[in-house]
Amino acid sequence: MSLQEFVTALDDLADDAKRAFDAASDPETLEEARVRFLGAKKGLLKTVQKRIGSVGKENMPTAGQRLNQVKSLIEETFQSTKDRLIDGGESDSDPTFDPTLPGAAPEIGHVHPITQTVSHLMEIMGRMGFEAAEGPEVEDPHHNFVALNIPEDHPARDPLDNFYLAVGENQSDRNVEGSRLLRSQTSTVQIRVMENSPPPIRVISLGRVYRPDAPDATHFPMFHQMEGLMVDKHVTMANLKTVLRIFATNYLGDDVEIRFRPSFFPFTEPSVEVDFLWDGTWVEFGGAGMVDPDVFRAVGYDPEEVSGFAFGLGVERLCMRRHGITDIRDLYSGDLRFLRQF
Ligand code: PHE
Repeated sequence: MSLQEFVTALDDLADDAKRAFDAASDPETLEEARVRFLGAKKGLLKTVQKRIGSVGKENMPTAGQRLNQVKSLIEETFQSTKDRLIDGGESDSDPTFDPTLPGAAPEIGHVHPITQTVSHLMEIMGRMGFEAAEGPEVEDPHHNFVALNIPEDHPARDPLDNFYLAVGENQSDRNVEGSRLLRSQTSTVQIRVMENSPPPIRVISLGRVYRPDAPDATHFPMFHQMEGLMVDKHVTMANLKTVLRIFATNYLGDDVEIRFRPSFFPFTEPSVEVDFLWDGTWVEFGGAGMVDPDVFRAVGYDPEEVSGFAFGLGVERLCMRRHGITDIRDLYSGDLRFLRQF
């Protein structure tokens, strides 16, 4: 066999192998073709290889080189055919884009449950003519205590029960001029509103308050209150009870009942604790009462001319009752699995 004949035999073999591989329509047929051409003992390539000696000694290197090239070529053809069959024939098209698939909707955030509650409460009270009022969260002792009839030595002013702020050199000193604290109640807004406008008044204020309580299922160092204030001629306790009952039935349901228990607050007289009967249990939601004459005097109102009621309810408690939340900390953990439910 001449070198020329040897090379032609190899080229023919490569062509035959490619045709056989192309014709294979499943992995089994392809494997049979591979064994036929590339089989280690009886493969057709092996048969040609065995005759390499007949090309003559001087042609051996060229023949050997050619043999190796053809062998690689056949192996590559086999491999790409195999890839195509395993991919299901899809490898030529672009698998990354399918215009018929529905688009992935981007995740949109939503309003926090407490913010939702605040809007809802504002809306209910708004329908009864109460306008929203606001005050600062960093307060001075005058608005948080003094004008609310809470004297210097009152336990409510204790640094252990309040977040006093370090102001200038007088770090956390509650008694110095210019001291500041995070407000411990929204009653501060009653004072700010009355200082700035004459009666009649009908406002609510919904906002954050701060107390150094250790967090547990019902306590958190920051929470929200809804403060209400109504001042006019002849405002009575009956008005207070009616407003709170209408509020409670609107927010919690028609069958809710309301109960007042005698209590004490320095800025109301008489004072009551407000309970709502809901789902068979009485739950305390906050405090209320008739505005103390001393408070009216502190803001320049004449207690002989006007009377008024005030109340302060816990917003978290209302939200938790309505939605069946059992741990206040869930509201502030930032856990999306919880928040997504609202
Ligand atoms: N400020 C009181 C508290 O935080 C609640 C209250 C408000 C009581 C208005 C009476 C009148 O406990």
